[in-house]
Amino acid sequence: MGEVIVSMNHINKSFPGVKALNDVHFELRSGEVMALLGENGAGKSTLMKILSGVYTRDSGELKILGKEYKELNPKLAREAGVAIIHQELNMCRHLTVAENMFLGRELHGLVTLKDSEMEKEAKKYLDELGVDISPRHMVGDLPVSKQQMIEIAKALSVNAKILVMDEPTSALTSRECEELFRIIHKLRDQGKGIVYISHRLEELSHVTDRVTIMRDGNYITEGNFKDFTMDEIIQNMVGREIKEKFPRVECQRGKKVFEVEHLNAGRLVRDVSFSLYEGEIVGFAGLMGAGRTETTRAIFGIDPKESGVIKLDGKEIEIKKPMDSIKAGIVLAPEDRKKDGLCTKLSIRHNLSLPNLDIICNKLGFVNSKEEERICQKEIEDLKIKLASVETNADALSGGNQQKVVIGKWLARNSRVVIFDEPTRGIDVGAKVEIYNLMNDLKKQGICVMFVSSEMPEVLGIADRIIVMCDGRITGELDAKETKQNEILKLATSFEKKIDEAI
Ligand SMILES: Nc1ncnc2c1ncn2[C@@H]1O[C@H](COP(=O)(O)OP(=O)(O)OP(=O)(O)O)[C@@H](O)[C@H]1O
Ligand SMILES: [Mg+2]
Repeated sequence: MGEVIVSMNHINKSFPGVKALNDVHFELRSGEVMALLGENGAGKSTLMKILSGVYTRDSGELKILGKEYKELNPKLAREAGVAIIHQELNMCRHLTVAENMFLGRELHGLVTLKDSEMEKEAKKYLDELGVDISPRHMVGDLPVSKQQMIEIAKALSVNAKILVMDEPTSALTSRECEELFRIIHKLRDQGKGIVYISHRLEELSHVTDRVTIMRDGNYITEGNFKDFTMDEIIQNMVGREIKEKFPRVECQRGKKVFEVEHLNAGRLVRDVSFSLYEGEIVGFAGLMGAGRTETTRAIFGIDPKESGVIKLDGKEIEIKKPMDSIKAGIVLAPEDRKKDGLCTKLSIRHNLSLPNLDIICNKLGFVNSKEEERICQKEIEDLKIKLASVETNADALSGGNQQKVVIGKWLARNSRVVIFDEPTRGIDVGAKVEIYNLMNDLKKQGICVMFVSSEMPEVLGIADRIIVMCDGRITGELDAKETKQNEILKLATSFEKKIDEAI
């Protein structure tokens, strides 16, 4: 094992109304991958933001490569060798790859910037990682996985010794994850220390050497990954045993409520037809880019439909914009919570009440604050959203708690069809069960639940029926209790179907 390169002791940090870190200890060695684990809101991101100088600690001791830092800011931390890839990537979408990599430390000529030199340099580090991206490419046009590689290349270019990755795989396909693991192994072998934060516990065995577990802002334990069972890890994270990871409830399937017939919208929604029944949960499986999100967007009225019919209770309804859909009782909790699901600069109260103004306003259009308060409190309790006050801005919530707000805002309405797009992405094991229970509650009330998920165990464990998509088309339908993962995979990769049909 290498030498200790980060040592943090007795770290405390409070935000107004929350003690985010309480006497926390953290240690990282060179040449190891340390998984930092804990539930949503446990303080993982906060601890790493302190290490990278983004937040200032209230008290505690911090040493990087043996040197004590009384005060730290992002520039100092970077010079000390710390690079962080944040949970929510923040790159300049309108700049090129090279421009992003050299942001704030551009190479200057006498009058102009040395563009070609920066591009050459950027290429060198991208090549070192073995990723094929042109340094001239506009970052906004690249998928998240590639943007992440650029962040890693940037870390290499500043010769970072300590690399923090905050939920790097939450938006990656399984192939992209493998690619990332390959790079992580390479960096570890070069002697770098890597902090790896993830809620996808099943992937830990591919990358982790040691684990540090936090709960509610406290340090709980650390040790070799090999010495823990998965159940022990979970128990340390949540402080209790989770008996059933996928609690399924049985309901009698009722009448047909919702129908989509021959829906076409853009390249990724081709001739999509399916029905949803009362008392069942339907999972939409497939690889990323299969058109599942696009299908939900077209139904909800975000993207225009080219053709197709949508029926509720057998009657055709017209959805031209999201408001038509909401009024009809069809609601969507979208995939990208920051961009589409939340107003991050508004309070949690406003986020929860905005889509429900029609319910909480009186006839004159004034907000009935008692009703607003009641709805907010109910959602917060039902979903166990962890927050200091409903008046804090949504962007101060931890990632997983933001996701709960996105879901919570729809629960005040009497909806008929609730569509979830990747509802458990970035959510901890305990909170996942809460979300499954919530879906089960909706199912018991006779509401149609449709959910898109790339996590196959979750689709198999929670859905009653599974619809698989590939390349914009539905390639098959499976009974969740009768099927296996490889059946889903087969349908999710049956690209030929489309080619056959085209001939
Ligand atoms: N800028 C901020 N202002 C106020 N409170 C904050 C801020 N940043 C974090 N918090 C609070 O500190 C606590 C720890 O949050 P943190 O983001 O570190 O959790 P996390 O372990 O990274 O969770 P997740 O897995 O959901 O990302 C939470 O209660 C959160 O609401
Ligand atoms: Mg976090």
